[in-house]
Amino acid sequence: MITINEHYLKLQASYLFSDIARRVAAFQAKHPERDIIKLGIGDVTRGLPPAIIAAFHRAVDEMAADASFKGYGPEQGYSFLREAIAVHDFQSRGAEIAADEIFVSDGAKCDTGNIQELFTSDIIIAIPDPVYPVYLDTNVMAGRTGAFVDGRYQGIVYLEGTKENNFVPALPKEKVDLIYLCFPNNPTGSTITRAELQNWVDFAREQKALILFDAAYEAFIRDENLPKSIYEVPGAREVAIEFRSYSKSAGFTGTRCAYTVVPKECRAYGADGSVQMLHPLWNRRHCTKFNGVSYPVQRAAEAVYSPQGKVETKALIDAYMDNAALVCATMDKLGYDYVGGKNSPYIWVDGRMDSWAFFDMLLDKAGVVCTPGAGFGKCGNGYIRISAFNNRDRVEEAMQRLTMVLSTR
Ligand code: MLT
Repeated sequence: MITINEHYLKLQASYLFSDIARRVAAFQAKHPERDIIKLGIGDVTRGLPPAIIAAFHRAVDEMAADASFKGYGPEQGYSFLREAIAVHDFQSRGAEIAADEIFVSDGAKCDTGNIQELFTSDIIIAIPDPVYPVYLDTNVMAGRTGAFVDGRYQGIVYLEGTKENNFVPALPKEKVDLIYLCFPNNPTGSTITRAELQNWVDFAREQKALILFDAAYEAFIRDENLPKSIYEVPGAREVAIEFRSYSKSAGFTGTRCAYTVVPKECRAYGADGSVQMLHPLWNRRHCTKFNGVSYPVQRAAEAVYSPQGKVETKALIDAYMDNAALVCATMDKLGYDYVGGKNSPYIWVDGRMDSWAFFDMLLDKAGVVCTPGAGFGKCGNGYIRISAFNNRDRVEEAMQRLTMVLSTR
């Protein structure tokens, strides 16, 4: 008899963004005349910059000729891309990361979801609340939690992000083994200072724990004093794995390219307490289960670091951040409290009512889709997340509609 992984039955009915997409599709089917503006899932809308498209095209043409054709590439990524990442994303900021510590992949979602396979099922996980649901759901699937009771999985140490701590959770009081952090944060858009990040690194070192640092939104940091990488903090190489993505920074949500950094010193422990390096384990997992990102996509990603690519991707990010500024200005005018939007494309708004009710109201009355904060965890209830990822005219229109609806509340 084939039996299922019962842990899947503990999961909430569907993945947050699938659930929202279904609700929006149902609304649209009922009201085909309504024009819906999507500021929900963080999906980019602008075309890929010219330097990236040119590199993409050149690489596609290479695939057409026997002499330049590429079959299977290195699973970890081509060295031209890994070298460019090491130099431009890390060494240029004083973070000593080498090309062979970088694993190119097709998405930070997959990598943040898959990394937990390296660890035993009895480790104690510390997960922020609110949180990007992938971290939590993949640990539920792996059997690291108990049942879902009163909005929370048993057995997880929740790191609460609240107005009181400016959505930067405090260090846990209890012993934990694996810590998920994401800054600039999804969903709240909050950021972490170098000193706060140092506290986390020191804590992980004391506890023999590991930090999984999701930096998928680092490109949106405007404040030069904020760290973009955890490796800018001394001591992080032994206790942190970092995830990055081209999805939001260069418009690759549909193109798919990301990477994970596992420093050679990064460690966990065997059952006998022996030190076990994570780089060879992740390398083993990556080579066994993944065949690499396509050559044209990696050439396109490499072009992000060219002089023209840097200018053009900055313009792309600036355009989304101008949208974020407009959302912030609208919330200021309407008198809603929020965080984010300054070093992040997400604006986390205190809706002063149930998140799903707020979501429904905005959809129904304004035809605007946001993401209900409750979908990111218990601490998200009462909040909504507004994404700055859309074209300017759509964000302007959305803010006009929100102003009409919310100023009468
Ligand atoms: C989000 O809206 O939180 C992200 O787009 C989801 C993702 O990157 O998978």
